Amino acid sequence: ILSCENMNTPLVIGHRGAMGHETENTLASVQKALDLGVDMIEIDVFKIRSGEIVVFHDANVERLTDGEGKIENYNYNELQKLTLDGNHKIPTLQEVINLMDKQAHLNIELKGNNTADRVNFIINYYVKEKGWPLDKFLISSFKWEELKRMRALNSQIGIAILTDEDPLQAIAIAQELDALAINPYYTTLTLENVDIIQKAGFKVYPYTINEKKDIKSMKQMGVDGIITNYPERIK
Ligand code: G3P
Ligand code: MG
Repeated sequence: ILSCENMNTPLVIGHRGAMGHETENTLASVQKALDLGVDMIEIDVFKIRSGEIVVFHDANVERLTDGEGKIENYNYNELQKLTLDGNHKIPTLQEVINLMDKQAHLNIELKGNNTADRVNFIINYYVKEKGWPLDKFLISSFKWEELKRMRALNSQIGIAILTDEDPLQAIAIAQELDALAINPYYTTLTLENVDIIQKAGFKVYPYTINEKKDIKSMKQMGVDGIITNYPERIK
């Protein structure tokens, strides 16, 4: 499902939903990405003190909400009182999955500590009880230890290795975890290293590409997907 037949048509992956259009990581942003017909949506998640997995990018709530402090220290009821941009709530992972209703793939980026267990539990629920194909989910993280925990919990789930350094350095861990993809920072890519990663058997889904000239150069390198704030610019 995640294969890319044509080098010039990479998967369109909406970043934090479609954050070029709506407040990042909100239900509105996820809905906007769906409306734009994305192949996949990327969201960031943390586990909060009361155990829920919530969709949020920063370790601290200050930049995006009217609250303060570390998101991991919040209980669900306290977090519900915060607003983003005045009129959005921080959604749970389940709220996002329910909204998506299998319309696109979901890339869950593990941001916080000790998220793998709970995220795996939630995914298993949607696979077993709601008929989501397991390959609709892709788990990524810069925290490779967390990805190791995810693989230990789930031998089948798609894993993407996030890196902002030389992407060739991620091949060994990708092999160790039988990963699907390496998700590099786009400026680290060249025709040569994209080719090496693909020949090693991994997809290349770089982040975050918004400008026309960069989209063009990613397509020329033959990447398999493009993570973008503006999904409508890719096709
Ligand atoms: O998953 C790609 C990208 O989202 C990684 O960086 O900081 O935007 O979560 P960040
Ligand atoms: Mg992210």
